[in-house]
Amino acid sequence: MEGYWLFLALLVSALLLGFLSVIFVLVWVLHYREGLAWDGRAAEFNWHPVLMITGFVFVQGIAIVVYRLPWTRKCSKFLMKLIHAGLNTIALTLAIISLVAVFDFHNTAKIPNMYSLHSWIGLIAVILYSLQLVLGFVVFLLPFAPIYLRAKIMPIHVYSGLFLFGTVIATVLMGITEKLIFALKAPAYKDSPEEAVFVNTLGVLVVVFGGIVLWIVTRPRWKRPLEIQQKSGGKREGNEEGATMKDCKDTEKSNLEFSREARKQNLNLDDAGQRSTM
Ligand code: HEM
Ligand code: HEM
Repeated sequence: MEGYWLFLALLVSALLLGFLSVIFVLVWVLHYREGLAWDGRAAEFNWHPVLMITGFVFVQGIAIVVYRLPWTRKCSKFLMKLIHAGLNTIALTLAIISLVAVFDFHNTAKIPNMYSLHSWIGLIAVILYSLQLVLGFVVFLLPFAPIYLRAKIMPIHVYSGLFLFGTVIATVLMGITEKLIFALKAPAYKDSPEEAVFVNTLGVLVVVFGGIVLWIVTRPRWKRPLEIQQKSGGKREGNEEGATMKDCKDTEKSNLEFSREARKQNLNLDDAGQRSTM
């Protein structure tokens, strides 16, 4: 793969930053705040940042880059779709549990719901993410959608996936800032206590993680190459139900069909045809 070492360096950096962000948020709630519990109080709220950063940022980031991993090019597209869809499902599940925690905490403490910009953008992101997941399953995983429809929807799927990932990172930054302003009283946030500096650093880690993921996933040269799939042929999508790890030797004929169809439809092959494994 062209630029393999740069890809590897960026991937390892993203993984380290992602792990570090999860460790930072855990240290924040366990060392500086009230810890973790499910009791309707502050310790229940703390699940909110922990699960959002672990699931909605870190796991979602991995789900997005998974198609780009050069070692998976031997694997069938169906297996890669299962991994992509599975990781996105884990991300959504953690985000929903995290929302239950914050709503439960607010209701117990009689704090109003949904008053902040953070909560508006955050809830919209979770709803749109759920829609993206369901549409992804229906259009790209189940064998019913015709190839021309997959080709039309793929650029929208990629755009909305990246847009949501960016929105989630912005939402995290708003949430972190809000929490620090609410929680730090004496000394206040403006006096830069140790906790504020630590948690600001967490915000920087999350932004750099997001930046690297977006960089990797927007490099056309690191896309799964179409030629590899065309040369080797393989099973059709409709027959893929029983696929397992053994399918790492197979590739799909449907990719060839897809790229023909995309050409027929005059689609931009960089946007659609290159995403060959629909
Ligand atoms: C509240 C979403 C990450 C801090 C909320 C609420 C939603 C939400 C929908 C409203 C709950 C209610 O009204 O009862 C999200 C999403 C996130 C995220 C989608 C990830 C992308 C974070 C993070 C923090 C945080 C990392 C850091 C501590 C807060 C705080 C509240 C809150 C302090 C209560 C105040 C308010 O409603 O704005 N969040 N959140 N959030 N979140 Fe987040
Ligand atoms: C590609 C996001 C769910 C199938 C992508 C890409 C993003 C993305 C950002 C571009 C990746 C790249 O260029 O390498 C999401 C999000 C989802 C989701 C945020 C959930 C909320 C699904 C589901 C499926 C699916 C459930 C069904 C299998 C695909 C396919 C590609 C793709 C086939 C093309 C991969 C390629 O370029 O070869 N998705 N996706 N996605 N996604 Fe999803």
